[in-house]
Amino acid sequence: MEGSIKFFLVAALCFHMLTGSSQVHSHYFLSIACGAAAGKTDDLGIDWVTDNGYIQTGKNLRGLDETFPYDSLKYFPEGRSKNCFVLPANQTTTYLLRASFYPGNDTTGPSIDSPVDFNVTVNNDLLYGYFATAESRPSGFVESVVHTFDKKEIFFCLVKGTQGFPFINGIELRELEATAYDYGYDLIVKNKKFLIIFDRYNMGTKPDKTKSLRYPDDPFDRIWLPEPLPDFPESPRVENPSVTPHGPEAKEGYNWQPVEVLQDARVGRNLQGLDFGLDVGGLGTHTLYQWYVAYYIGEIQNVPLSEAESLGLNAIKETIYEFNLTESDISLQIWMLMPSLNSSVFLLPRSKQPVLNGFEILSPFDVDTSATFTTDQEALNAIKQSFGLEDWTGDACYPVEWDWVKCNTVSTRVNKLLLSDKNISGSIPEEISQMSDLTEIYLDNNELTGEIPQSMFSLSKLKVLNLANNDLSGLVPVSFQNRVGFTFSGNPRLS
Ligand SMILES: *[C@@H]1O[C@H](CO)[C@@H](O)[C@H](O)[C@H]1NC(C)=O
Ligand SMILES: *[C@@H]1O[C@H](CO)[C@@H](O)[C@H](O)[C@H]1NC(C)=O
Ligand SMILES: *[C@@H]1O[C@H](CO)[C@@H](O)[C@H](O)[C@H]1NC(C)=O
Ligand SMILES: *[C@@H]1O[C@H](CO)[C@@H](O)[C@H](O)[C@H]1NC(C)=O
Ligand SMILES: *[C@@H]1O[C@H](CO)[C@@H](O)[C@H](O)[C@H]1NC(C)=O
Ligand SMILES: *[C@@H]1O[C@H](CO)[C@@H](O)[C@H](O)[C@H]1NC(C)=O
Repeated sequence: MEGSIKFFLVAALCFHMLTGSSQVHSHYFLSIACGAAAGKTDDLGIDWVTDNGYIQTGKNLRGLDETFPYDSLKYFPEGRSKNCFVLPANQTTTYLLRASFYPGNDTTGPSIDSPVDFNVTVNNDLLYGYFATAESRPSGFVESVVHTFDKKEIFFCLVKGTQGFPFINGIELRELEATAYDYGYDLIVKNKKFLIIFDRYNMGTKPDKTKSLRYPDDPFDRIWLPEPLPDFPESPRVENPSVTPHGPEAKEGYNWQPVEVLQDARVGRNLQGLDFGLDVGGLGTHTLYQWYVAYYIGEIQNVPLSEAESLGLNAIKETIYEFNLTESDISLQIWMLMPSLNSSVFLLPRSKQPVLNGFEILSPFDVDTSATFTTDQEALNAIKQSFGLEDWTGDACYPVEWDWVKCNTVSTRVNKLLLSDKNISGSIPEEISQMSDLTEIYLDNNELTGEIPQSMFSLSKLKVLNLANNDLSGLVPVSFQNRVGFTFSGNPRLS
């Protein structure tokens, strides 16, 4: 992750909820309304649950000036280095993960105080950096397609920044069909990439639809934005309501676009030079990044078919894909690689009219698979259980350490346990001695009871062991009783 920047700003967006339709999903959906008092079915027929069972820390803020599920949030005033939701995953499944951040409106109701900054990580990878000043409070959602996880748990963490309390309103996990994003699938599965979706647009959206769009027939419940430019006077919007959904019958490689995306489009030569605006919003230094663009191009009435068209990239002034629409094409999906930042795209008509129904822009990132040395993590799990610290979730050392451990990030071993003055009770578990790289253990000024595990005295790298002021019993080997760095005072039962 060194040197890579995955920040991007989220435009202020409101969700446009379609009403009245209910939907049965054949794919796994998990929708967490963070901070909510109760689960609820939304207007699209999607069931939301509370965050009970996914996180134990944080406080709830409810009654925000937003519609359900964004009218509540979870925030983390405790000041922990990170707070991790633990989400379920299957190891051969690819998911779309969406997180939303609505801080509330401080003039109309409860809100999160600004300034605030924090990072949002998925396992060790940065999904989003949230940064709000008193004047500018971004709100909206961040989306990502993540690769097939190699564990059955996803650690979705809010990592404390320099100011304010981290917060989150919603977490949505959507199972993707294996053939969806097949170009991306190659990247995700074969190359173990983490694919961030930056934008997803429905071109030719009806003018009254100015807000983000969710379609009941979208099997993955994606959020589509209305077209990025206000109007294309010489590139009319066209509709073909008879275009039918293809969904499961689609040829491999289609992204299962909802039919409404395919029923309208923009046509005409003025689509040339469509500017994605990727070089705005904090992306200015991403010159080394690759962008993938999935274009959706469909059969639309009044558009001459069977005519040669091509799409080109102005960055390299080169046509990289050429295709001919035929009568039988309901929808074409074209992936293009944009090797540099230059964000304008040219639709180059070879003869007549180019047509564009929609597109998505994605960018792949390397996945950081670092994890705490297994034996150490297992020992820490025993310690958490014995000391009542189970609400510390996620990996002990990555992407940042729990506040009470210090790790060597090269060896992935835990070096220090810092649990002085934590009001913890219980006994010291035998497993502590498996953490063979420990150099310092601080457990002083707590309510610990039971015998000191003798195996602790064979930790060969241990330089500091402070057990003062507990209620421990058992024996301290003679050779350790006066050793520098070893403190046992204030344990009346100890001999
Ligand atoms: C994992 O797969 C099982 C069996 O297909 C399914 O019931 C379950 O919902 C899946 N869970 C997730 C998190 O995808
Ligand atoms: C907060 O609500 C007030 C009153 O409705 C409105 O004028 C203002 O624009 C809102 N602020 C934000 C950031 O939405
Ligand atoms: C957030 O992520 C950025 C980019 O990786 C990093 O530079 C910054 O230090 C991170 N902040 C925190 C609080 O972890
Ligand atoms: C598209 O059709 C034109 C005209 O028939 C033809 O010259 C061209 O080779 C075709 N292109 C592709 C990629 O099939
Ligand atoms: C992108 O490339 C086009 C054509 O090569 C050029 O006119 C434009 O200025 C470039 N834009 C940026 C932001 O470099
Ligand atoms: C310490 O823990 C005990 C229970 O284990 C609890 O009753 C007490 O309130 C705690 N004290 C502080 C200062 O947190």
